[in-house]
Amino acid sequence: VTDPAIIKLRTPESDEAGTRVRVLGRVHRARAQKDVVFLTLTDGYGYLQCVLTGDMVKTYDIMTLTLETSMSIHGEMRAIIGKAAGDKEAITTRVAPDADPQTLYDNRHLVLRGETSSSVMKVRAATLRAFRKAFEETRMLEVTPPAMVQTQVEGGSTLFGFDYYGENAYLTQSSQLYLETCLPSLGDVYCVCPSFRAEKSLTRRHLSEYTHIEAELDFITFTDLLDHLEDVICRVIDYTLAEPEIAGYIKQLNPDFKPPSRPFRRMKYDDAIQWLIEHEIPNEEGQPHQFGDDIAEAAERRMTDIINQPIFLTHFPANIKAFYMKKDPEDRRVTESVDVLMPGVGEIVGGSMRMDNWDELMAAYKHEGMDPKPYYWYTDQRKYGTSPHGGYGLGLERFLAWLCARYTVRDCSLYPRYTGRCTP
Ligand code: 4AD
Ligand code: MG
Repeated sequence: VTDPAIIKLRTPESDEAGTRVRVLGRVHRARAQKDVVFLTLTDGYGYLQCVLTGDMVKTYDIMTLTLETSMSIHGEMRAIIGKAAGDKEAITTRVAPDADPQTLYDNRHLVLRGETSSSVMKVRAATLRAFRKAFEETRMLEVTPPAMVQTQVEGGSTLFGFDYYGENAYLTQSSQLYLETCLPSLGDVYCVCPSFRAEKSLTRRHLSEYTHIEAELDFITFTDLLDHLEDVICRVIDYTLAEPEIAGYIKQLNPDFKPPSRPFRRMKYDDAIQWLIEHEIPNEEGQPHQFGDDIAEAAERRMTDIINQPIFLTHFPANIKAFYMKKDPEDRRVTESVDVLMPGVGEIVGGSMRMDNWDELMAAYKHEGMDPKPYYWYTDQRKYGTSPHGGYGLGLERFLAWLCARYTVRDCSLYPRYTGRCTP
C-alpha cells in the first residue's frame, strides 16, 4: 500500500469524503472513551477530528498523545457525525506520534504513566510473582549470583567489559555457571537477575540489559528438563490469569490470548531444517537451509507464526551452540539442547543438559579457543561429585512480549537499554 499524499487542512482535497489522506499536525485536543479515542489535530490551517479505534486505542492512549504532540495521521475522510472543533472527520488507519519513536523512549518516564505501559508493568510484576511461586512449589531455592564476573558463558562477542581495580572484568551474560556450582549444597536452584549483552544489532527482541530467569536442576534427564519447562511455563500462565486484575490487563493488551494447550510440540532441529526446506523459507544467505545452519531470527519467526503454538526445538548441532552443552549419546553431532519458541516472538528460552565429564569439558574449552584457567571453579564440579544436570534461561521481556502481544521487548522493560540508549 502506498502512502497517501500529505494534505493541508482547509484545502479542497481534505473535504472529499472517502479520500485517503495523510495529515501532519499537532494534537489540539484528545478525548478517550472505552474503545475509541477522539483526537483533534491542527496543522495551523484548520482542525480535523480523527477517530482512533481497534488496535490503535491499545497502542496510543491519552498519555502518549499529549497536547501539542506532533504527529502524522493516515486515514479516510468522512462527513462529520456529531460536533467537533473541525467540520470534517478522518477515520484513522495509522498514527505515528512525533514521526520518531525514539522520542517515546526519551520520554519513557512520562510514557510509563499511560494506561498501556502501566498495564504491561503490572503484568510484569505478576509474572515474576508467578515464576517464584512455581519454583518454590517445586522446592527450588532462589540465589543471587554476581553480576560482575571474569568468565563468559555465551561467547565473547557480546561481552560488556570494564576495569575492575586494574583487572579486566565483564557484566554477566548468564548466571548459569554459578547456578551449576550450587547444586551439590542447595539442590535445584533458580535466579532472577539482570543479564547483559552487547548486541550490536537493533532488533525488536534484543536488549543490552534484560531480566534473565534461570534455573538449574540436578540428577535429571533431558526429557525431565523438557517436562519441567512445560510445567513451569503453564503454571506461570495459570497463576497470572488467576489474579482477576491482571487477567483484565492481559485481556486488554492481548484480547486473543489463549493459554497454550499441552503437551507442547517437540521438534528436533533436524526436522525443523526439513520443515524450513519444505516451506521454502531460506537461510540468511538466501539459500535453502542445510543441517548445521543457524536458524536466524527471520526464519524462526516465520516458522512460529505458521505453526502458531509453542515449540520445543531440540537437539541443535554442537557447532552452533555454547561450549558447555552435553552431546546426545545417540547422535554425537548434536547436543541435548532446547529453545522454546513462541508465536510472534520466537525464542524465549535457551536451555540444555550440561557436559558433566571433565575430559570432554577440557576439550570443549580447547575447541572454542577459551583459556580454561578462569573457569577452574566451574571445571572443579566435574572432579568433585559430578552429576547429570541441566537448566535453562528465559528472557522475561520476551515472555511478556508474547503474553501481552507487544511488538517489541523494549515496551516490556521499565527503562529499556539497547544499542545507543542508556537513558533515562
Ligand atoms: O539462549 P541464551 O543465550 O542462553 C543462556 O544464556 C543460557 N546460559 C541460559 C541457561 O541455560 N541458564 O539466553 C537465554 C534467553 C533467550 O532465550 C532469550 O529469551 C533471552 O535469554 N535473551 C535476551 N533477551 C533480550 N535481549 C537479549 N539480548 C537477549 N539475549 C538472550
Ligand atoms: Mg539462545
